[in-house]
Amino acid sequence: MSSLNGEREFRINIAIDGPAGAGKSTVARKVARQLSYVYVDTGAMYRAVTWDMLNQAIDAENETAVLERMAALEVELVPGEDGQRVRLSGVDVTDEIRSLAVSRTVSRYAQIEGLRAKLSSAQRQMALRKGVVMDGRDIGTTVLPDAEVKIFMTATVEERARRRFRELPQSGETITLEQLEREIAERDSLDRSREVSPLVCADDATVLDTTHMTIDEVADAIAHLAEREIAQLG
Ligand code: DC
Repeated sequence: MSSLNGEREFRINIAIDGPAGAGKSTVARKVARQLSYVYVDTGAMYRAVTWDMLNQAIDAENETAVLERMAALEVELVPGEDGQRVRLSGVDVTDEIRSLAVSRTVSRYAQIEGLRAKLSSAQRQMALRKGVVMDGRDIGTTVLPDAEVKIFMTATVEERARRRFRELPQSGETITLEQLEREIAERDSLDRSREVSPLVCADDATVLDTTHMTIDEVADAIAHLAEREIAQLG
């Protein structure tokens, strides 16, 4: 259904979950562009908080200190000309949060229940008006259990490491492909085994193994599912 100015009136929410390096963010961004929806990268929010905790030298073991600091932080995702920018209490940290130091520690902070509660609540707010493509680990299960389309994207750990290796920031930090593969496997294991909102496939999610698929193929498959849902519900 379309309004007079051509904008879609009926909008849905799309949840995309899966392990690190499955291609979620690239695909989610593309689907959002195709549907003129808003892309929400929830991993960036966990990364921004982790970056701050590392700067403040607050260890993930010290939950009280983490939550106290968390209460003073504001994480914002702001659409920018070259994609989404991440602001932490007003400071742009978009590039900083991709560092290896953050990637290596984020899963430890992401296990803290109070931290997850605060970020999940902010994420739900962003999806209230619908028209959101949100990617993460617990979107279809916990953050947006009513999302009209739920996708669980996977790929072999070898392929995911290769993809992440190609996207590593040119920051002078070095890591071998084998080391990256080990670190991704370790992060997956922490994300899957944590007590609060672990990485699991929602019962009603469509599973997409993207090992042998291109970004465009995955994005088209999701956009197709979304269009079908919009046509049925709208
Ligand atoms: O998507 P990413 O690799 O940038 O996410 C970074 C980390 O944040 C990931 O290892 C687990 C955590 N995360 C989470 O626990 N829940 C989410 N919804 C998104 C990310």
